[in-house]
Amino acid sequence: MDRYCVIGNPIEHSLSPQIHQEFAAQTGEPLSYEKVKVELTDFAAFLKNFVSSGGKGLNITVPFKIDAFNSATHLHELASMANAVNTLAIEGTNITGFNTDGIGFVRDLTQRHGFQLASKRVLILGAGGASRGIIEPLLDANPAQVTIANRTFANAQALCELFSGRHGYERLGCVDLSVLAESGGEPYDLVVNSTSLGLSSESILLPSTLVNGSFCYDMSYGDKAAFARWANAQGATTSVDGLGMLVEQAAESFNIWRGVMPSTDKIYQSLRKRLGAQV
Ligand code: ATR
Repeated sequence: MDRYCVIGNPIEHSLSPQIHQEFAAQTGEPLSYEKVKVELTDFAAFLKNFVSSGGKGLNITVPFKIDAFNSATHLHELASMANAVNTLAIEGTNITGFNTDGIGFVRDLTQRHGFQLASKRVLILGAGGASRGIIEPLLDANPAQVTIANRTFANAQALCELFSGRHGYERLGCVDLSVLAESGGEPYDLVVNSTSLGLSSESILLPSTLVNGSFCYDMSYGDKAAFARWANAQGATTSVDGLGMLVEQAAESFNIWRGVMPSTDKIYQSLRKRLGAQV
């Protein structure tokens, strides 16, 4: 049976095995899928062993997405742009790196939640790996403007520079998060939280006017979606967590590996029930 894993550290709470086992059952594809905690210095050794023992594919989560990027022998365009890999497909000695996070995000936002990106003004909070992974597919969906706000302004600037080269300077902007927090600025149609804030207990220091009347999307999900709950309390029109993104990026990985696109509604609904309401 073909063997797949999700690796990360920590990995205990990963929902990926459940998602992929549901996809396998639904599509009739025989495969095994496990979660494996890899020690921080052991990524290269793990990958070598997994490849030589006939493993077919890996999902990669924190903190190994850049290691995976560096280990791939071939890179899909979106992985190159994101500088990070969340999916490896293995065929013999060929290890191809993909990034399915951005596609998963856009599909969840537009298809599950019905938000149409064309001509909209978008604010992304955060300029780390999670932000970088969604910018290219987001810009491809033709929003009027995307602004990246970050605590460390230089990181937001660097992302702007990188993606403006392909998409034009007039469509991308960046701002210091503390400046934005003070000024409030104009309202946005969509506010996306890509910061790791939800992973800690630190509070969000933004004016409520920023999300009041906006569609808010938190890339964290479940308990960690503190931004989604905060935005809901501040009067966001709609506020959702990133559970759907998790399921959609998994479906995209499954399609890369098995050549068949699973449907995502059943597993999304069952995980939703388990995790509780989104806000
Ligand atoms: P990920 O891969 O999950 O994006 P990351 O690359 O470490 O993780 O990026 C974390 C993001 O959350 C960054 O944009 C970070 O801001 P900095 O570039 O200034 O580090 C942001 N972040 C983390 N903690 C934050 C906090 N307390 N307030 C505001 N932004 C925060």
